[in-house]
Amino acid sequence: MRIIHSIPEMQEWSSDERSSGNSIGFVPTMGALHQGHAELFAQSVSENRKTVVSIFVNTLQFNSVSDLESYPRQLEQDQVIAELQKVDVLFIPDKDEMYPDGFASSITAGPIAQHMEGLHRPGHFDGVATVVVKLLNAVNPNVAYFGLKDFQQLAVIRSVVRDLNIKCEIKAVPTVRNSSGLALSSRNSRLSPEQLEQAQIIHALLLEMAQMARIANTSSFALKDHFTDGMMSTSAARVEYVEVVDSHTLLPATTAQDGTTICVAVWFDDVRLIDNISI
Ligand code: PAF
Repeated sequence: MRIIHSIPEMQEWSSDERSSGNSIGFVPTMGALHQGHAELFAQSVSENRKTVVSIFVNTLQFNSVSDLESYPRQLEQDQVIAELQKVDVLFIPDKDEMYPDGFASSITAGPIAQHMEGLHRPGHFDGVATVVVKLLNAVNPNVAYFGLKDFQQLAVIRSVVRDLNIKCEIKAVPTVRNSSGLALSSRNSRLSPEQLEQAQIIHALLLEMAQMARIANTSSFALKDHFTDGMMSTSAARVEYVEVVDSHTLLPATTAQDGTTICVAVWFDDVRLIDNISI
């Protein structure tokens, strides 16, 4: 596995591969790799001649210094995981490479970024959109892979790629869960054993809500109550939002029915988890 730190070297590698007719699959990450990332890598490896994974903890998308500082970092372990998954290139630019002195341009994500995550994490998606476009320009992949756990992020990236005519297919990969249903996330490593246990209820409640919706097109209002009551009665978590949205436009829906997705965000102390289920 080759390790590349500079953007020009990454671009040169990619241009050589594409001139040789090799397709490039790309998985952008912020490191702290887990099985969820490994699934993205595996899909890219199976569908492309070459796979590039980037590791860059993007300062632009964090809303608080403490969240940025406490974000898990484990570069050596990440390299082992990427190597085992047969990744061809690990692209690890540092902050000066991505945002050198004088860096001043950024992308404003559209209305799709304004609610849910965007409402609670102002500027987050502008930071995500800016870094993803920079990474796509550095790697120039044919296909880029993103996990469905970050449902709104995926929608934002699709709209940015479409609006800016970036020639790259965006593929969604299903959320990977542990044996009790908790969506894998780099942030899970910051949960205590007790919180880890309590966090299982998130997926269990989402499944119940999807079932309720399938049986009776339940109102969004009733579903929100179901989730909040369920979380409060079984865990010490604080619910930040529960939203039922149209799966394509992400606009709020009054009832949960075919074509809608229920998205939630909860806090366990200072650890924030998100998850979703599509009806
Ligand atoms: O999903 C993530 O890990 C990040 O938001 C991404 C897409 C790598 C951009 O920093």
